[in-house]
Amino acid sequence: MLIKLKISKKVFNDSYLSFLNLVTRVQIFFGGSSSGKSYFLAQRCVLDVAQGGHNYLCTRKVARTIRASIYNEVVKAINHFKLTNYFNINKSDMVITCANGYQILFAGLDDVEKIKSITPQKGVITDIWVEEATETERTDVKQLQKRLRGLSKVKKRLILSFNPILQTHWIYQEYFGNWDDSKNLYQDDELSILRTTYRDNKFLTEDDRAALKNESDPYFKAVYTDGRWGILGAVIFRNWRVEDCSEIRKVADKFKNGLDFGYGGDPAAAAHTYHDKARKRIYILDELYQKGLTNDLLAEEIKKMIRKQYITCDSAEPKSIQELKNFGVNALAAKKGKDSINFGIQWLQRQEIIIDISCTNTKNEFQQYKWKEDKNGNALQEPVDKFNHIVDALRYAYESEMTGSKDSLWSW
Ligand SMILES: Nc1ncnc2c1ncn2[C@@H]1O[C@H](COP(=O)(O)OP(=O)(O)OP(=O)(O)O)[C@@H](O)[C@H]1O
Ligand SMILES: [Mg+2]
Repeated sequence: MLIKLKISKKVFNDSYLSFLNLVTRVQIFFGGSSSGKSYFLAQRCVLDVAQGGHNYLCTRKVARTIRASIYNEVVKAINHFKLTNYFNINKSDMVITCANGYQILFAGLDDVEKIKSITPQKGVITDIWVEEATETERTDVKQLQKRLRGLSKVKKRLILSFNPILQTHWIYQEYFGNWDDSKNLYQDDELSILRTTYRDNKFLTEDDRAALKNESDPYFKAVYTDGRWGILGAVIFRNWRVEDCSEIRKVADKFKNGLDFGYGGDPAAAAHTYHDKARKRIYILDELYQKGLTNDLLAEEIKKMIRKQYITCDSAEPKSIQELKNFGVNALAAKKGKDSINFGIQWLQRQEIIIDISCTNTKNEFQQYKWKEDKNGNALQEPVDKFNHIVDALRYAYESEMTGSKDSLWSW
């Protein structure tokens, strides 16, 4: 079956047009935020599959983050192209099948068994798209590349998209050897790299642009405004590492949970943690990190994570706390004393913080939460108000521990 596509160039951002039919084996799309990377790759995925010959595997590090991001983007692209009649969208299994038999499949890299066994109904996987690829380890992507075996009519591709958060990342080491930072494009027979920024996205509103243009912190400006590989100066936490906490989970008995409210611009962020007090270790076992949740939905998510345990919440929203209680969450209000941010940070700096591999947003925050700097690059005593949602949640969770308060509450 041949699907006739008539699509105007106008629906794409110009910087990406020459990539519509590019067949290089490894393709990297990186750059600043809101530069149209995800949108374009979702568009291209849908068009490739509709034209036939391509089966896509769309991935991210953590399976449960896929639905709200890459899956949503792809479904949106199908709708925008008005191709809904040609695609069968199985929402519960997240399997999208085109009328021509080719498919778009989704799996998290943490779901090793699924990744190994996932196969399209017709032909083989031809394209693997790793969204937010800085979340991954080198071995994750090496494993994935094994899935690009087998014969196909079209050339196979590995596609990585991300914000270039840290120059120490394996992706930089592996693929950016020949990259010239004064240019926005690199191309050889095996590898293509495109850098885009908000300036490449004609669909943004003036407000979106202004927020990025006016960024004052040098690190955030480099990474998120200009799409340059970040070099972090005054990072706040170095006392953390990422581990698989499944063994600890079995013996963990005392939990501390915290919640920072958020809705539109910022996500609601909650941390479910185990405190090994004797060793001064905090294990972050589970996270919630989601925008757009009304309090009823937020309550459901929190209960899934901590059931009847207590959770200490940002006291700035007493109404939300009361609503969470009405929805069955054992919510408490943080007290937040004078100078509680710096006090809390100093206390957390003295713990050993172990982040479970599933908590990619927590890791992302710990990597990028930083002190403000003066124009000479000297760290100031005040954190930049970014990448602090989980950290705030932790400060609330451990508030009673920090102050040695008698009414310290433990949850079992
Ligand atoms: N071709 C397009 N048509 C319509 N809107 C678009 C298009 N491309 C981008 N946009 C708009 O711009 C927004 C930002 O684009 P997108 O999410 O793709 O950026 P990104 O580069 O993936 O950003 P981030 O690095 O933050 O993930 C989208 O949410 C969408 O509203
Ligand atoms: Mg994106």
